[in-house]
Formats: sequence, structure tokens, C-alpha cells
Amino acid sequence: MARPRVLSGIQPTADSIHLGNYLGAVRQWVTLQETHDAFYCVVDLHAITVPQDPALLRRRSRVAAAQLFGAGLDPDRCTVFVQSHVPEHAELGWILSCLTGFGEASRMTQFKDKSQKSGSDQASVGLFTYPILQAADILLYQTDQVPIGEDQRQHLELTRDLAQRFNHRYGQTFVIPGPYIVKDVAKITDLQDPSIKMSKSASSPQGIIDVLEDPALIRKKIARAVTDLGSEVRFDEADKPGVTNLLRIYGALSGMSVTELEGRYANSGYGAFKKDLAEVVVDALAPIRERTEKMLADEAELDRLLGEGAARAGVVARETMRLVRDRMGFLAAR
Ligand code: AMP
Ligand code: TRP
Repeated sequence: MARPRVLSGIQPTADSIHLGNYLGAVRQWVTLQETHDAFYCVVDLHAITVPQDPALLRRRSRVAAAQLFGAGLDPDRCTVFVQSHVPEHAELGWILSCLTGFGEASRMTQFKDKSQKSGSDQASVGLFTYPILQAADILLYQTDQVPIGEDQRQHLELTRDLAQRFNHRYGQTFVIPGPYIVKDVAKITDLQDPSIKMSKSASSPQGIIDVLEDPALIRKKIARAVTDLGSEVRFDEADKPGVTNLLRIYGALSGMSVTELEGRYANSGYGAFKKDLAEVVVDALAPIRERTEKMLADEAELDRLLGEGAARAGVVARETMRLVRDRMGFLAAR
């Protein structure tokens, strides 16, 4: 039997992915390439829903791709590509936008958050239709599962609704995708404010750890991470959200269970716990950083790998679009 298909995407909007992106999404991507037919894209069309400097966008697209390879994606085991290299994403995005209700799109909470931040008059129409383009990314590849963090769940629900609507109206065309969300790491929180997710747009520099960050800085940030009243290392979402977040990070990177970790630090207070955690994080990120730097040192090779990825992705995308055009009643071009 064919392997189930996965697809996911990441925006090239920062100089590095952060620990939340890595634990919530990219680490699962690496595991899934062993068992699934996996497609991962750097979503530059999504990035331009807010203004981007062209030189910086070009740079960050390469950095994002290099980090995906650096984190362990293997071009022989999965397909890594840049969204704008496959024009069918935008084409299907348009078609799906004609199937989406204005009210339905208006209910997307990420749009509400992001547009509030920029002032709703400043928000682009592209930011509003962002989730529809994301649906196109997913449906183009007849995706079974989408590995994402918790913040993307609503966009996946919309994707499923649109796929069902299309199938109902025009006949069976799209696979209905499901979310692949790993609960323990689905929402890594800000180190300074555990009530919000770690995020490149909302977190202060002290609240966020970049995968490419300098080890000395990582140690400093973890040492200064907000912990909670008392001194007990205990998993308690409600009363100890700061410590709980650190326990999640520690557990995910070390493979130890929360119970084991609570036992290990039962009598040592926050200091020793944070010190060890810092080393765990530094050790986990160091090889990713080294491999990323190596990839970035040879841009021609990186671009070649992305070209290969786009060629493979294009084959699948064109096949889906052929079907979609036919179902919609578009005349075939002769
Ligand atoms: P983005 O950088 O917004 O394109 O996000 C890339 C992936 O990382 C998406 O699957 C997000 O759901 C996931 N993600 C982003 N922030 C976090 C976080 N703080 N915790 C867990 N997952 C996250
Ligand atoms: N919206 C996602 C995010 O901000 C990125 C994304 C774009 C995506 N297209 C996708 C994720 C398709 C999964 C599948 O994190």
C-alpha cells in the first residue's frame, strides 16, 4: 500500500526558526519522513501577507530551507520546496476563495489577532485570505495528515470544510486531511510570559529561543526564564505554567517523562533544573546549527535541492489541478 501523505509549511519570516516551531512542528516532520510520503514547503506566498523586504525575504527563504535540512529532513526521503516555485498553489487558492464564505473567513482567530496588531485598516486582503491559501497548499497534494502546532487547528478545520464542500459540489476530488498535533509540544510558551505562545511576532527577545542562537545566550535566557512561586519542580499547568513549559521542553528534548524529571529535581529547586535544561537545549540545537551553516555556505547546492523539490511537488500539484479544472467546468486549453 502507498504511504500516507503528509504536508506542512513554515513561513520564511525570521532569521531562524524558534524552539516552538522546532518542537511543535519540524521535529515531527523529520520523524514522519520515515513512514510517510512527505512534502514540506517554505511558504513565501504566505510571508508576503505582511510587508517584506525583498532582499530579506530571499535570504530568509534560504535560511528556512537550510534549517529544515539542518534539522534532519533528507532530500532523498522527503520533498522540500518553496511554495512560489509551484504556481498551482496560488491558482487553487483563488478557486477555493470562491468557495469560502466571507463570514466563514472572518471567524479565523489568527486573522483577528494579526490584523488587530497592525490596525485593521492596515491589514491586507491577503492576510484575510491567508487560511484559504493554506487550504490550497494542503489539498493540492491530496494530503492525509498535516503536522502542525495547536495554533493551526482552526485553519485545518477550514481546509476540511472546503474539501468537503468541493467534493460535494463537484464530485469526489480531494482527500479530507486530518491534523497531526502532538499534545505535549503543541504549544511551547514564551519564556517570559507563559500565558502566550512562543512567537516571533509576539515574544520579546528574552522570551524566545532561536534554533540558531548562540549557546551563551540560550543559557542566559533559560536562567532568566520566568518560574513560578515556590521552588518545587512540578508539572502544573494552572499554578506553575512557567515550570510546566520548561518541563515540556526538557521532556521533549531528552526523552525523559515528566514524572522522571519531577523525581530527579525533587530536592534541588529551580536552579539545578534550569542549568541542566540549558545544557539539554544547547546540545540538541548545536548539530542543527552546524548543519544549517554548512547548507548556507553552498547556496548553489541549496537552490539545486529546492529546484528538485519543486519539480517533484509540481508533478503532484499539476495532476490535482488538471482534475480540479475539469470538475469545475473550465475549458481545456488546446
Ligand atoms: P510559522 O513560523 O508561523 O510558519 O509556524 C510553523 C509551525 O510551527 C506551525 O506548524 C506552527 O503551528 C508551529 N508553531 C509555531 N509556534 C509554536 C509554539 N509556540 N509551540 C508549538 N508550535 C508552534
Ligand atoms: N499557516 C502556517 C503557520 O503559520 C504555515 C502554513 C502554510 C502551513 N501553509 C501550510 C502549515 C500548510 C501546514 C500546512 O504556521
